[in-house]
Formats: sequence, C-alpha cells, structure tokens
Amino acid sequence: MFLITPIVNFFQNLLVFSWDFVLTIANILLPKLKVGHVVPAGHPGAGGKWPEYVPPKEGDSRCSCPALNALANHGILPHDGKNIKFNEFGPIIRKSYNFASTFCFFVPNTAANMLKKSYSKDTFDLAELDLHNGIEHDASLTREDSALVPDQGKPHLPFVRELLASATGKDKDGNALLTIKDLSAYSAKRRVDARKTNPNFSLSRSHKTFGSSNSSTLLTILGGRVADLETFLVEERLPEGWESRVRTRNGLTFGAFNVTVFKVEHGINEKAYEEKLAKEGGDAKTAEV
Ligand code: HEM
Repeated sequence: MFLITPIVNFFQNLLVFSWDFVLTIANILLPKLKVGHVVPAGHPGAGGKWPEYVPPKEGDSRCSCPALNALANHGILPHDGKNIKFNEFGPIIRKSYNFASTFCFFVPNTAANMLKKSYSKDTFDLAELDLHNGIEHDASLTREDSALVPDQGKPHLPFVRELLASATGKDKDGNALLTIKDLSAYSAKRRVDARKTNPNFSLSRSHKTFGSSNSSTLLTILGGRVADLETFLVEERLPEGWESRVRTRNGLTFGAFNVTVFKVEHGINEKAYEEKLAKEGGDAKTAEV
C-alpha cells in the first residue's frame, strides 16, 4: 500500500503532463475560440451572462481562492460553498475559466490528496482548502497570513488596492494593465513584509511556486485588466459580460501557463525590495513597491 500510492501518483502525473504537452501543441495549431464564445453554450456565463451575484451569507463556506469564491457567489458552485464533489468541480473550472482539462484534474486531485480524501467519491467545503501549507500559504497577495487572520475566506482589501495601484501597463485603449514585473514586485514586497510581521512565517520553495501560479492567473485568465481585477478581487464577482482572456481551444495548459509562472517567480527579488526599503529609511509596510 505504502509503495503503491507513490507509483500510482508517478504514472498519473506522467500521463497528465504528457497529455498536457499534446494539448499545448494542439493549441498552437488550432484556431482560437471567437471572442464572446469562450464559455461553451449552455454553461452559466455563456455569452458573458453570469448568473446573479449574491455575496456570501453568514455560515457560507469560503476560502482563500477568489476564483472559487466567485463561482460560489454566482451559484455556479453551491452558494453555501459546501459538499462540492472533487470530480465534478474540475469540469466547472474548465468551462468557466477555460483552464485545460489537465489543470482541472490535477489541482482538484492534489487538493483531495492533501485533505486525505478520495477524488472520485468525496466532497469538500471551500474552507477546507485553507489547510495551512497545503495549497494555502503565507505571503499571499490578497490575504493576510492565516496566523494573523485565521478566516481566509475574505480578501484583505488594503493588499488588493495596493496591488492594483501598482499596475504600470496600458492596453491599446489606454486601460490600466497589471504586468509580470508588477506582479513580481508586489510578491517580493509581500514576502518581505510577511516575514517581518508574522512570527510563524514559512514559505517553502514549492509554496513560492504555488504562490506565483495562483497570482499568474491574474495575468492569463484575467488578462491583467485592472478594471476586471478590481471586481474579481474586491467583490469576488465575475464582471458583467466577462469571459476568460484565454481563447485557446483546449484551454490554458500547464505548458503555456508555466511560462508566465516562471517569469513571475524568477522576477521576484526580495533583496532589491529590502535595499530600496533601507534607502528610503521606511518600514516594510509603507515602502512603495
Ligand atoms: C482548480 C481548482 C483550484 C483550487 C483548488 C484553488 C485553490 C486555491 C487556494 C488554496 C488558494 C490560496 C493560496 C494562497 O495562500 O495564496 C488560491 C489562491 C488563488 N487562486 Fe485558486 N484554486 C483553484 C483554481 C483557480 C482558478 C481557476 C483561478 C483563476 C481563474 C484561481 C486564482 C487564484 C488567485 C488569483 C489566488 C490568490 C493568490 C494570492 O492571494 O496571492 N484559482 N487558490
């Protein structure tokens, strides 16, 4: 039994990442989905028409992931955020956000393993995903560390506002865009600040990568558009008429996504942020990014 699980996991991962490679190549060759047709017909959100947004009520389960909370707030996942089947939620992510089927199997399956539950039989409540140093980790961009704020279900708005205010890009119509450089700079600030303010701070190499993966969705699926990000991160709502900015037929594969994740993680320079801080003579909380 002890030997079988790692062997099964090894072959499962080999299969997922081989298939991901095939999907990545197919995406390069196939024409993109037309604007306005990313969410498949018949699924909530098709043509940009998302079901009514209802903020969470007392007793509803929410987690540290804005994307999953948004689906619950629109009733695409159960509004109370409870009793979600692991194997039913991947296809919902696939259709709502246009992530590839590989991601939509791998992440929920990882979450099931992390919670020691069965991917094919069990259910979870959103708040269970906040198991510290499972997928949830310190130095997030939209949450205080769980040692300081145990309920991770709501965004920490000062961080969100600071992140969005740090956007330096512009699209061709002059709208504000968050860039890879902005995301790396704000991540460096959060890591330095969190290390100073959280006595229980920890951030392993794999959690650094998780962090950059989570935040890279803001540039890929959300396209870095600050106006959309504000609605998504502040209210955990999908903007009226919104659709994923990823229009490849098979959705966002690990192969394509990891290019952005690598650039974001590689660009995080905590030392440079600390040196800037020292020059300004300020403390970590007030220095500009
Ligand atoms: C497939 C199932 C998913 C699971 C199980 C999941 C889980 C999580 C968890 C546990 C966190 C907290 C990490 C932290 O401590 O910062 C998180 C953060 C986040 N996730 Fe998800 N997520 C999923 C899908 C998605 C999708 C599809 C998107 C984008 C459309 C997304 C966007 C984000 C963002 C932006 C954050 C916040 C990062 C931060 O605050 O630094 N997630 N997710």
